[in-house]
Amino acid sequence: MIDNRIRREDLKGKIVSAEEAALLIKDGMTVAASGFTPSGYPKAVPLALAKRAEAGEQIGITLLTGASVGDELDGALSRAGVIKRRFPYQTHNDTRNGINNGSIMYQDMHLSHLPQYMSYGFFGNIDVAVVEALAITEEGGIIPTTSVGISPTAVKLADKVIVEINTSQPMALEGIHDIYIPENPPYRKPIPIEKSGDRIGTTYIPCDPSKIAAIVVTDITDKVRPLGPIDEDSEAISNHIIEFLDFEVKKGRLPKNLLPLQSGVGSVANAVLGGLVKAPFTDLTCYTEVIQDSMLDLIDAGKVTIASGTSITPSTEGLVRLHKDIEKYAKYIILRPQEISNNPEVARRLGVLSMNTAIEIDLYGHVNSTNIMGSRMMNGLGGSADYTRNAYISFYTTVSTAKNGDISSIVPMVSHVDHTEHDVMVVVTERGLADLRGTAPVERARMIIDKCAHPDYQPMLNDYFERALKTKTRHEPHLIGEALSWHQRFLDTGSMKLK
Ligand code: COA
Repeated sequence: MIDNRIRREDLKGKIVSAEEAALLIKDGMTVAASGFTPSGYPKAVPLALAKRAEAGEQIGITLLTGASVGDELDGALSRAGVIKRRFPYQTHNDTRNGINNGSIMYQDMHLSHLPQYMSYGFFGNIDVAVVEALAITEEGGIIPTTSVGISPTAVKLADKVIVEINTSQPMALEGIHDIYIPENPPYRKPIPIEKSGDRIGTTYIPCDPSKIAAIVVTDITDKVRPLGPIDEDSEAISNHIIEFLDFEVKKGRLPKNLLPLQSGVGSVANAVLGGLVKAPFTDLTCYTEVIQDSMLDLIDAGKVTIASGTSITPSTEGLVRLHKDIEKYAKYIILRPQEISNNPEVARRLGVLSMNTAIEIDLYGHVNSTNIMGSRMMNGLGGSADYTRNAYISFYTTVSTAKNGDISSIVPMVSHVDHTEHDVMVVVTERGLADLRGTAPVERARMIIDKCAHPDYQPMLNDYFERALKTKTRHEPHLIGEALSWHQRFLDTGSMKLK
């Protein structure tokens, strides 16, 4: 079996234990790893690295990955105190705690930016790349597994490459990748993608075999997570969006098979896409980042012709389904580097319909997707803004309240801004949908309160807005001293509601 996984004879001598490979990583190094969501990240080497730190060795690294990764990487290394600096996105509790208690320095970044920051030298030298692979080709090319993320750039730039051959990943994944690395300016050329399904690169990551310093063979599986059931709120949000899309088709502003869909992560995002299974649209295409369970549903329903992303992120049940029918699903999926899947140039050319999730949205359409109460980092903005600013139509969804109704997700002023009023076109909650295109801030405020806010908070929001309107500035009126008092009230009393 290993002959099929390592197809170059001279590289077989590089097979070592995870412990030996981990010794290549030293204190102070910058390590770039594969992985995007809990898919396709290295597992055995980081676990071995964490053990060294737990045994008392002083070791701290800067860790770059495509996006969030699973417990063996973010979790184990955060708990062992190995991660000192982390870029660009995470979702792990232990990493999040490290970020919020100040022991991990974190910059929340646009995911399309990360590979080019690396290529431009903004992170300094990349000492080691650790990448999970399906196989290594005769030429030394590295075939990724369930995600591509930053791996091509990591392999290109790193001094040394550690490859984790993961035998739990099905060989049928070979051929689904499309690897293209843009040159740095001033030599960068237009990215020749005109349709979601266009292939422009190779099915493997080119790699000088002499850079491969160690190969570790493992069968530890991706630690995917269960997906919450589609609840009433998610279904309502999905229905509002589908009704809106239908209206846009009738108006002639969208083709009958829509435009390439981009959908964010999580249960609501999954439900929104899942709703399309029953919708009247066919021949759908996707130009997105993560391919979740609902995409498998759409493929099964014969609704999708192509799904382009950078990662397959199924739930626990979805993974079983994916493996069972991998030959079928592989025909519909293309995995690209995140610099391409999230590329603003391509997103704007294709005219993606972007659908992402907010923590809170304000009266004028500014969106906070990352910092709870303005300062506690949740995950990061991920690729949401890569698409939002460049979308044909950008949607933001949220349930209208959080924490059992003690928080209104529609607030006078967001406590942190990730996406501005200039980028956000449509706001959707379970209550309804506000189409903000072509509206002035004051018109937006009325619409967002009426259509999207929860009835428990509508009177308070109307009261705030009416009083703000009495100030001298009528373009985007605010009562600055009061604007964030809602958040302070929650922090002080446990509820945004007035007692
Ligand atoms: N104020 C305070 N807390 C809020 C809140 C609000 N308005 N709205 C939600 N929360 C809390 C929830 O209570 C929950 O807290 P908990 O973990 O303590 O239970 C947490 O935020 C997550 O909310 P949840 O309702 O479970 O939402 P989710 O799983 O759909 O995640 C985001 C929502 C915004 C955190 C998530 O979509 C995200 O990280 N988005 C940014 C990245 C992104 O868009 N990626 C895709 C790009 S392709």
